Amino acid sequence: MNILVIGTGYVGTTMALIFCEMGHKVTGLDVDQDKLTSLQSGRLYFYEPGLEELLKKHIQSSQLRFTHDYAQAMKENSILFICVGTPMGEDGRADLSYVKNTANEIGKYMKSYKVIVDKSTVPVGTTEKVTEWIQESQVVKIPFDVVSNPEFLREGTALHDALHPNRIVVGTSSEKALKIMNQLYKDFSCPILETSPKAAELIKYAANSFLALKISYINEIARYCDTLCINVHDISKGIGLDERIGPQFLKAGIGYGGSCFPKDVNALLYSANKNNINLDVLETSVRLNEAQPFYFLDKITSILGDVKNKKMAVLGISFKPETDDIRESPAIKIIDQLLKLEATVKVHDPVAHINRDKAQQYSTVEETIDDTDAVIICTDWAQYKNLNWREMNKIMRSPYIFDGRNMLHPEEMKQLGFIYYGVGCC
Ligand code: UDX
Ligand code: UDX
Repeated sequence: MNILVIGTGYVGTTMALIFCEMGHKVTGLDVDQDKLTSLQSGRLYFYEPGLEELLKKHIQSSQLRFTHDYAQAMKENSILFICVGTPMGEDGRADLSYVKNTANEIGKYMKSYKVIVDKSTVPVGTTEKVTEWIQESQVVKIPFDVVSNPEFLREGTALHDALHPNRIVVGTSSEKALKIMNQLYKDFSCPILETSPKAAELIKYAANSFLALKISYINEIARYCDTLCINVHDISKGIGLDERIGPQFLKAGIGYGGSCFPKDVNALLYSANKNNINLDVLETSVRLNEAQPFYFLDKITSILGDVKNKKMAVLGISFKPETDDIRESPAIKIIDQLLKLEATVKVHDPVAHINRDKAQQYSTVEETIDDTDAVIICTDWAQYKNLNWREMNKIMRSPYIFDGRNMLHPEEMKQLGFIYYGVGCC
């Protein structure tokens, strides 16, 4: 099949590469010429394990190419994937302007039947809107179908998730489009769930919101553990072994971030509200998550006292390990608050970069930790777990560790002479 992927961000690039792996010919289209130039030269402009090797392979074999030319790309491809961003607007709603622009462009250049697949995360009813937007801009009335096919990729493991999905959701009311989608995904062994477009759209929001809820729930239990001096890890393990609950997304910490959970949960709340439905549990979970970095900071200042002029080492900037994405990262909230409290902030991350003048970023953990009053772990990069902490203790001014991701073993750290605090473990 000939596939056009519109929007070559994290999701679009990953999808383009797995379609190449499946033997299809793929064109990537984006409005950002710098991104296209980088990708066409085989260089991934963001950090995501495993993708650059595939990019080089498929550029070399000419199975993949990048363009900004809609007219040509529309002529050559019959399945079009919309993967453009749907950022959060000021009031929480999903900003659909990029999706609308894309739909308008598709309509303008359509010369034959196309299946337009929406992968961008969009509110319920957007498939219908995309259909209208395409029709509005069509010069000649040519039939087409719009399908909702949400993505469930996690950054850091996007390639694995795209190659081994646990389900594929196809939302369409067209038999013709459904046949094409089934043909496209025929080599996947996971269940393919056929639904209405609206149900497919809601499945994506409900899935992300449920995972976000799970995190907020364990973070709330962690706060209670703090007062009782119980290690929340034992609670996560104890409840996660119940198959009805499951062990994943029960890691307490400084809260969830990233380009998806915060925006998707808010978009769901906004659209439910517009339909006169209050999603109270979800609302509370957002409030808890927004407060979680500050909860941890309060813990830090209650132990260290005033942090003004204290030297603090922050390990990790990205919202999770194995990505350079800092969108909505709780680490940034912690860094900003430390700067506000006039602490001296030294920062490290293996791949992400901080854009704050007052926080100095170092290339090694040793330099970052050297001569500091405390270490705050904000991202659970494996590198931090495997550090020679005995040696780190020797170069610190005071032996305080505040582990915002509960990634180190409290007892081991105490044996090494550290004064250790996690979230939900005193
Ligand atoms: C995006 C959406 O934000 C998310 O809701 C959805 O689930 C999947 O797609 P992501 O890939 O992380 O997620 O977004 P981003 O990395 O911002 O990439 C979007 C790309 O679309 C960018 O490269 C941007 O330049 C491009 N774009 C944007 C277009 O090509 N056309 C536009 O009109 C707008
Ligand atoms: C998420 C969804 O998992 C994915 O299915 C969807 O397509 C996009 O949004 P992503 O944002 O890449 O993926 O990362 P994820 O692994 O879900 O983590 C999100 C945030 O939750 C991170 O900040 C992470 O640190 C935090 N988290 C995750 C916890 O605090 N505790 C956990 O137990 C799990």
